[in-house]
Amino acid sequence: MIRLPVRPRRERAESYDVRIGRGLAPRLTVDLRKRKVARRYIIVTDDHLRAKIGAPLQAAFRRRGLAADLISFPAGEGSKSRRVRDAIEDRILALGAGRDSALVALGGGVVGDLTGFVAATYCRGIPYIQVPTSLIAMVDSSIGGKTGINHAAGKNLIGAFHNPIAVYIDVDHLKALPPRHFISGMAEVVKCGVIADAVLFHALEAYLDRVLRREPEILARVIEACVRIKVRVVNRDPRESGVRKILNFGHTIGHALETLSGFRLTHGEAIGIGMAAEARIAARTGLLSDAAAERIIRLTARCGLPTAIPPSLSPAAILEVARRDKKTRQGRIAYALPKRIGAMAHRAGDYGIPVEDSLVAGVLQGPRKPR
Ligand SMILES: NC(=O)c1ccc[n+]([C@@H]2O[C@H](COP(=O)([O-])OP(=O)(O)OC[C@H]3O[C@@H](n4cnc5c(N)ncnc54)[C@H](O)[C@@H]3O)[C@@H](O)[C@H]2O)c1
Ligand SMILES: [Zn+2]
Repeated sequence: MIRLPVRPRRERAESYDVRIGRGLAPRLTVDLRKRKVARRYIIVTDDHLRAKIGAPLQAAFRRRGLAADLISFPAGEGSKSRRVRDAIEDRILALGAGRDSALVALGGGVVGDLTGFVAATYCRGIPYIQVPTSLIAMVDSSIGGKTGINHAAGKNLIGAFHNPIAVYIDVDHLKALPPRHFISGMAEVVKCGVIADAVLFHALEAYLDRVLRREPEILARVIEACVRIKVRVVNRDPRESGVRKILNFGHTIGHALETLSGFRLTHGEAIGIGMAAEARIAARTGLLSDAAAERIIRLTARCGLPTAIPPSLSPAAILEVARRDKKTRQGRIAYALPKRIGAMAHRAGDYGIPVEDSLVAGVLQGPRKPR
């Protein structure tokens, strides 16, 4: 098992460890007992995972003498909503949870973002533990304390920074992850290589087939590489005032596509298209070589991710939604753009690069999927 400490600058009180390994449930329950985190735990999961993963974890808690309830909500991005947030709060209130309670977010990024957000405000903030079960959640969403829900106007518009007290990444969970969601997670993995780790990017180019076959050893190493990047970035910039913006590569266009598709695109699929578009934007602005942009697009496509803008979405519509996405600079939308594979462009430490809409519209109009 690997242990990586998260020690956000200026936020010592919110330090926590990320553990990566296999079969971690016993470890989790032993640690919680030892640390006396809470008098009772509420495991929150989705209805796909409740029986197969939720119930066994609840049993493991109880075997260790830890009081644990299990609640679930319908799986899918649609649950990152006020309605489901309210429903979870009502359920845990009805269970009598108070400041002596902690939540356990057991599931993908939806479960983690939603449970973390409930934990951020319930009784003015209670502890929660991330137990990610999807690839996206393992390499990205379970680390860094960003929590929240969606609004019709855009993704994650309502949320809070609230760090978990611990993250337990059990790579064995990935065996059961449906292929579409595994491939979606590969978008964040490719992103990690592009933004901060050329060695990871090369390794993915060389060993992609083995990663896609989910060979456990290579998968564990890829996840560890991504977690190291995420931990390093959030430690340097816990509140996204500077370097943390690099994590948004592919996400400015990607979030807009995800919203406009009515979530028919998964997060990772939208980010795949977003990375291809933003790599082209970086090349068009002269920041990135055409050859590097093509390598990014090729690797994304080889993962099985889409890279072309859906023909039904106009550049104007995409830009309009992207503009609402919190990242505008004096009217121009700011993008996180690579300058080469493994390094992101910045101007005096600002990693949000403003780009003219006309240039972006040209890229978005470019190669599209034939109808
Ligand atoms: N907070 C952050 O920093 C951050 C970062 C990246 C992504 N996100 C968010 O994460 C979400 C996407 O995450 P996701 O793709 O994990 O979504 P998800 O939680 O909807 O999971 C995808 C699907 O996989 C299923 N699943 C998960 N683990 C499984 C397993 N082990 N076995 C079988 N099925 C399993 C789920 O039931 C669901 O149907 C988006 O809402 C995105 O905005 C947040
Ligand atoms: Zn993402």
